[in-house]
Amino acid sequence: MVVAEQLLDTESELTKLSKNLELTPDEMRTFGYRVIDMLVERHANMHQSPIGAKADPQHIRPLLASPPSDLARDPHQLLDILQRDVFPNTLNVSHPRFFAFVPGPSNFISAMADALASGFNVFNGSWMGGSAAAALELEVMDWLRGFCGLPATAGGLFVSGGSVANMTALVAARHAILDDHTQGATIYYSDQTHSSVERALRVIGFQPEQIRQIPSDQQYRLPMDALRASIAADRAAGLRPFCVIANTGTTNTGAVDPLVELSELCRAEGMWLHADGAYGAAAILSDRGRQALSGLDRVDSLSLDPHKWLFQSFECGCVLLRDVTLLKKAFQIMPEYLRDVHRGVDEVHPADYGIQLTRSFRALKVWLSLQAFGLDAFRAAIAHGFELAEFAERELRSRPGWEILSPAQMGIVCFQYTGREVSHSAIVDAMLRDAYAFVSSTKLHGVTALRFCTINPRTTFDEIRETVDRLDRFAKEC
Ligand SMILES: Cc1ncc(COP(=O)(O)O)c(C=O)c1O
Repeated sequence: MVVAEQLLDTESELTKLSKNLELTPDEMRTFGYRVIDMLVERHANMHQSPIGAKADPQHIRPLLASPPSDLARDPHQLLDILQRDVFPNTLNVSHPRFFAFVPGPSNFISAMADALASGFNVFNGSWMGGSAAAALELEVMDWLRGFCGLPATAGGLFVSGGSVANMTALVAARHAILDDHTQGATIYYSDQTHSSVERALRVIGFQPEQIRQIPSDQQYRLPMDALRASIAADRAAGLRPFCVIANTGTTNTGAVDPLVELSELCRAEGMWLHADGAYGAAAILSDRGRQALSGLDRVDSLSLDPHKWLFQSFECGCVLLRDVTLLKKAFQIMPEYLRDVHRGVDEVHPADYGIQLTRSFRALKVWLSLQAFGLDAFRAAIAHGFELAEFAERELRSRPGWEILSPAQMGIVCFQYTGREVSHSAIVDAMLRDAYAFVSSTKLHGVTALRFCTINPRTTFDEIRETVDRLDRFAKEC
């Protein structure tokens, strides 16, 4: 490749280069192919690679501390820096042995779709800016709507992830039910609900005293009796119960709240039912998921993160509303400088349905990867996640000293070591140092637990067995 520094032998070339920010076609190809090579190496060699590393701030901050250069630098050298110092000092959440938190098992086609969306720099905020992109987003959202069994009135949009999806849905709920007057309105969800819900409520103006966090039952689900009692007590106190948030796959254990009963209760009470399916809702594509998520078609709104169990690269979440017009009612504002974009009634402006005006073309990666691999591959990939967690549970049960705290469900199993007094955080740290695999810890009803989240379709049963072997060794050594 003719690198930038080699080009800069005359003053005029430097001026030209720095003014235009351009590469020649050959330079673009050489640079682009090198980037592709890096990605192929990463994707092709994951099973043989460590899971990455968490860098010490005292080490990594100085290593990366350098002001931007006034003059052009060799882009290859810059890629070398990334390859040497940056990517190895991150955890590889797409790694087949990354079982911590919620993994991000993305796929290569999705990554290439991102390169296209970014390279074409598609503006996906208005029909005028990106008509085909908006049409394709509508199409993909309609697929997701269909998977979840929601009616034809339903629709939504892509957002950065579950946090923004939850917030977007709650803004629509607040507008539809409360006309944005939040005084005395109360919200209900279990203590297993993801923190993004509390944050969303805080951001959109609810006070902590308006939130009822109900202790979950033995299966970590929202208990109906306690919920009913809480709603009744609030009504008796003159408050305005307005929304229930159901989990369709909690982050901790994969628990699914009783959607059918919740929808009946909400209908009877005139309340909104939002389901946080950021983690679990995509599992509806598989037979196992469909069984576990029965009643998902009854919710008023739903978050679903393709960047979790639909194997897309970050950032790819989505929000679906049973009545998509409620999103528009909550979000649409028409300033005079956008008057040219609002012309045809059939033209849909994604920006009218959410918080972002300038939006990237997130639908592209879902469209491209679902089409390229086919739905059967996705169904099998999701089903594999269920089976891996069940296999992990069996492996743990077969070893003395390990106790299952929450059996495998929706690709998650939680457990603890009781063979001897041991710090589970020390086991997590030992796993991180070992870098073969990674699990994280949590607390379940006050008890510290380790946790496997096994949604990566590339994980093998042997890798689960080897990970359990290492956990067993570290539990005895720590
Ligand atoms: C159930 C649930 N809801 C919401 C979120 C937040 O999603 P995001 O990190 O994409 O904003 C997560 C993240 O793990 C989650 O598991």
